Amino acid sequence: PPLDTLLNLDEIEAAATTQISKKCWAYYFSASDDLLTKSLNNAAYRSILLRPRVFVDVTRADTTTTLLSHTLKTPLYVSPAAMARLAHPDGEAGIARGISRFGAMQIVSHNASMSPEQVVADAAPGQVFGWQLYVQQNRAKSEAMLARIAKMPDHYKLVVLTLDAPVPSKREHDERAGIEARLVIESAKSAEEKKKERPDANSGVGQQLFFGTAADLTWQTTLPWLAQHTTLPIVLKGIQTHEDAFLAAQYARKHPGTVRAIVLSNHGGRSLDTSPPAVHTLLEIRKYCPEVFDAVEVWVDGGVKRGTDVVKALCLGAKAVGVGRAALWGLGAGGWKGVERTFEILQGEIETCMKMLGAKDLSELGPRFINTRAVERD
Ligand code: FNR
Repeated sequence: PPLDTLLNLDEIEAAATTQISKKCWAYYFSASDDLLTKSLNNAAYRSILLRPRVFVDVTRADTTTTLLSHTLKTPLYVSPAAMARLAHPDGEAGIARGISRFGAMQIVSHNASMSPEQVVADAAPGQVFGWQLYVQQNRAKSEAMLARIAKMPDHYKLVVLTLDAPVPSKREHDERAGIEARLVIESAKSAEEKKKERPDANSGVGQQLFFGTAADLTWQTTLPWLAQHTTLPIVLKGIQTHEDAFLAAQYARKHPGTVRAIVLSNHGGRSLDTSPPAVHTLLEIRKYCPEVFDAVEVWVDGGVKRGTDVVKALCLGAKAVGVGRAALWGLGAGGWKGVERTFEILQGEIETCMKMLGAKDLSELGPRFINTRAVERD
């Protein structure tokens, strides 16, 4: 179907599903075990109600924000997700092209299907990228990647360290469709990356990509090591409790210029099933350690399908909101133009929601605009 007939993210996902391979669908759609966290990620937003105020001049709603000192036109960003070229040859560079009009940030996955150089080759001037790191058992490999990223300071402005996937999880859709996996990875990955492949043909793409990843990261050893090998701000992705948010904030206070943001994320429900949605973790932080919001920027991802979802997260204190699958489905539905359509829909919904609420800019958003009673009962 023509992209402009697709009106929401579910329709984009449905369109992508008819166009991509079964294997690609299984990899993108999959989540761990029973997919409970994947559904709760979205359901948590749905059970928060909005409290619109009237008699406010909302001729315009401004979504400009500052993330780690970069002025961006929107708080919406693309979360790191592996293997975009499984969906469309435009790949991760197509995502960059699709979001450029919206001035959104993009985090490029460690397991991207294009090299970090290729992704930014045609990027718009000033477009902000982050690079996501899975620390490798062989630390020298990670150090070499960080050195490579450091050579592109005009593009890569931050390093995102993913912490919520220390071991591979059980993604049954992906594993069941695993037989084709080797072939598909070969077609999409560079020769260097192919060496990481697991020999057992029957595991899913997720398991194959995981091969070589370290499981021994700690607060004490990993952050000092990382700070030695990058001068970029560090973002910790996959924080799921107020306790860890507190530790991250404490680390940030003690070591200025290292950890600057955390992402409340459960990997789109792809790591530990029944782990909490970002909304729950945001509520915990507000209750037990609200000082975290002053020490680090708090970003969230998982389950975002509507502009109202984004605005609710911002009202709870999130500074930025990421989408993982939405960008991939956009790519599957129509290459870079599908990504552009996805962002056009979401950005339009965010602005409409702000106007309906009576909020002229993001600084006005806060808990007064939402009713979280139903989530607090969960
Ligand atoms: C991911 N995610 C992810 N995260 C990460 O840190 N590194 C990675 O390589 C990947 N790869 C990946 C592949 C695919 C296909 C998906 C769907 C997700 C997780 C991602 O960054 C993000 O946390 C979730 O996708 C957010 O949830 P939604 O928006 O997909 O619901």
